[in-house]
Amino acid sequence: MNRRQFLQTGAACGLLLLKSRTAFSYQANSAVRLGLLGCGNRGTTVSTSFSKSTTAQVVALADIFPDKLALGRTHFDQLNASLGRAAIDDKMLFHGPHAFEQLASCKDVDLIQISTPPFFHVQHLETAVAAGKHVYCEKPVGVDVAQAKHALEIAKRVKPTQSVDVGFQVRSAPPIAAIAQKLQAGALGKIAAVAGNYNAPAAEEKLHPGASPDEYRLRNWLWYTALSGDILVEQNIHIIDLCNWLLGAHPLKATATGGRNILTHAGDCWDNYQVDFTYPNDVHFAFASTQFGGGGAFDAGLNMFGANGSAAIPYSGPVQIVGPQAWAWKDSENTAPAAATFAANGSFNDNLAFADRDKERTFIESITSGQSHNQVAAGVETALSCMLGRMAGYQKREVTWEELLAHGETYKLGMNLDQFA
Ligand SMILES: NC(=O)c1ccc[n+]([C@@H]2O[C@H](COP(=O)([O-])OP(=O)(O)OC[C@H]3O[C@@H](n4cnc5c(N)ncnc54)[C@H](O)[C@@H]3O)[C@@H](O)[C@H]2O)c1
Repeated sequence: MNRRQFLQTGAACGLLLLKSRTAFSYQANSAVRLGLLGCGNRGTTVSTSFSKSTTAQVVALADIFPDKLALGRTHFDQLNASLGRAAIDDKMLFHGPHAFEQLASCKDVDLIQISTPPFFHVQHLETAVAAGKHVYCEKPVGVDVAQAKHALEIAKRVKPTQSVDVGFQVRSAPPIAAIAQKLQAGALGKIAAVAGNYNAPAAEEKLHPGASPDEYRLRNWLWYTALSGDILVEQNIHIIDLCNWLLGAHPLKATATGGRNILTHAGDCWDNYQVDFTYPNDVHFAFASTQFGGGGAFDAGLNMFGANGSAAIPYSGPVQIVGPQAWAWKDSENTAPAAATFAANGSFNDNLAFADRDKERTFIESITSGQSHNQVAAGVETALSCMLGRMAGYQKREVTWEELLAHGETYKLGMNLDQFA
């Protein structure tokens, strides 16, 4: 299946903009009422940024755990007060395993932001789309092939009046959006090869008094492949998404190595990957990642090499093209020094400093203007690209895109969520 056929399976998909009137008839300045599903680190960061950077207003919160919901409420009541907005109504707070369904059935919510662990994204997306909500869904769209295929079916059910974005905010970072335009216009000529890396510190342990083994696992979802998708699918996906986007293709096959050489804590996620992805025209993308240790070891980015020069796209440091069409990002807006510091909440103080803000503004604009997005299939394409590398690593052999799609890979949650009712 080529890329065009793949994206078509997701109906009106990818970055296609659909001209339509929004279901909610927004006035230019009226608030988009946002319900946050998953009041954790990233969810709180993104909803806060939505509140500060757009007309979106947090009016509802949902989380499986009451303590996370309570923390969220305190935070957003303070934030809303500081912005001159009302506190969240008691009736708009939901906890427990069915909180996602209760949130989706709220008629006073226009937009659901899905910031739960990756295992739940597709289920939560399905419920939010069925309820007719606009959706901002964190990456990855699915942890396994079965979920990814299911998401493609959901993509077809997104109405032209609904806008659905996937959390690839890196594409919206001003330096990266600017260099992408030049690269997509052919600034490097014929592409020879791509290299990328994501080296990050370990995910911190989350302890909660009296937590059962299941609760411990759910709170520390980042350490478990079934819940997170492993580091390639959960974290490295941002760089693999950049490569897909810039090449306008998904990998056709992959070989990979890696393992768990350093980590000794609970869970089964690997702490390093080395993947060789083959794209159309025999373009190879050599990708390497690590995730362990303390805060010092952070470095992420992409380098492209073509007949007419090379491009550097680091999270921190100069974003530039070297060669006949030489170009460098001139920082007119960000006065903060570019610091190579990791941000577990995805809010980086470097080339990505305005990524969330610009992503959110474009998304809210898609809702208020009625120029809806449906990024589900594009999100699935990148998630599957990561799963391709993961499968090649786990199986220690070359895996093709067709083999991946034919594979019945399904991860099990391994617990009954009703215990958290
Ligand atoms: N785009 C980015 O740069 C970026 C950065 C960090 C995290 N993320 C993504 O954001 C998501 C959340 O990550 P995080 O770091 O905030 O994790 P987190 O553990 O801090 O937050 C997750 C929240 O979801 C809640 N939750 C768990 N299962 C639930 C369920 N079934 N129903 C309702 N609530 C549930 C948890 O109690 C928790 O409050 C993940 O998908 C992650 O991959 C994206």
